[in-house]
Amino acid sequence: MAFPFERDISRETCAKVMYAKLKAKLADTVPDFELKMKAEAAACVNELKKNKNAIVLGHNYMEPALFHSVPDFTGDSLELCRAAAETDADIIVFCGVRFMAETAKILNPDKTVLLPSEKAGCSLAESITPDDVRSLKERFPGVPVVAYINTYADLKAEADACCTSANAARVVEALDGDAVILIPDGFLTRNVAKETGRTVLFPKPGGNGGYWMAGDDLQLIGWEGRCEVHEKFQVQDIENARAQFPDVKVLAHPECSPEVVEASDFSGSTSAMIRYVEESDATRHLLLTECTMGDNVAAVNPDKEMLRLCSVRCPHMNQITVENTRTALMKNQFVIEVDEDIARRARKAIDRMMAIQ
Ligand code: 13P
Ligand code: SF4
Repeated sequence: MAFPFERDISRETCAKVMYAKLKAKLADTVPDFELKMKAEAAACVNELKKNKNAIVLGHNYMEPALFHSVPDFTGDSLELCRAAAETDADIIVFCGVRFMAETAKILNPDKTVLLPSEKAGCSLAESITPDDVRSLKERFPGVPVVAYINTYADLKAEADACCTSANAARVVEALDGDAVILIPDGFLTRNVAKETGRTVLFPKPGGNGGYWMAGDDLQLIGWEGRCEVHEKFQVQDIENARAQFPDVKVLAHPECSPEVVEASDFSGSTSAMIRYVEESDATRHLLLTECTMGDNVAAVNPDKEMLRLCSVRCPHMNQITVENTRTALMKNQFVIEVDEDIARRARKAIDRMMAIQ
């Protein structure tokens, strides 16, 4: 049996080791006094994980001190979905936003899923309701519905398949039919339409929808939801960056407008953007996405310069910190629950997506 102070000594040592690890990566990004506090909290999270048989999944947008310390897996929405589906831990702490934690719960009905903040929502998930989807289905009978992963469980329950930014075009192409409903991100739908050579329709609420017939051109039917972060990027931002740094490579998330995507050198999911930077010969990149990700990429690519527009932040992802992740594990909060019937129907849509390679 351990002496009472033995645990504290080992936690102190773990905090020191963690501080050294974080300092090596983040000395230029996070002030030293804050790194020390973050390292202590992170060491505590790692101890709690062991004691409770928990894992931490961390989205690419997490703050640098969290991203580089406590997650067992980091990645984009699709990669974290796959990690959630494969774990045998008893507790999953989701360092991301609510729709991601709900997806993990749907995939693991018997496990405890925790989200460290109740305020971690998403403007896309808020932009559409299950009633909206039911009216779309009435207006376009028989047309399959693809719900972006950035939706809540009750919305996914109305869909035939889910998709993420990493596989949206593949999922649309895998479904049979002249038309597909792809909701709720209007910009993503336009970008996927371009990629798959489809025309795009945005029915007005209350309209009769009588302008589509089976056999018409391949179409995508969309919804005018927006990511409050990515809608802010403008073509002018890219022009300004290129004027100052003619060698810059510009990367845009597919939730950006089609004009911004068109003016960029590359568009892909958050992990696809990270891979692009790692594999590119260019020394300077502009990331048009939540700015924290630039810090995370810069920390492990010291030879590459990351330009980012840090006035554009996701207020939801930013709710999650190392400190509230520690509290989540200490207090078992905030527990994610999904109604059984909704979870069963949403699971079908998620499984269908995961089966599409
Ligand atoms: P990814 O699936 O590309 O990680 O994107 C999630 C997200 O919320 C982007 O804003
Ligand atoms: Fe939602 Fe946009 Fe934030 Fe991603 S960045 S969680 S899409 S609000």
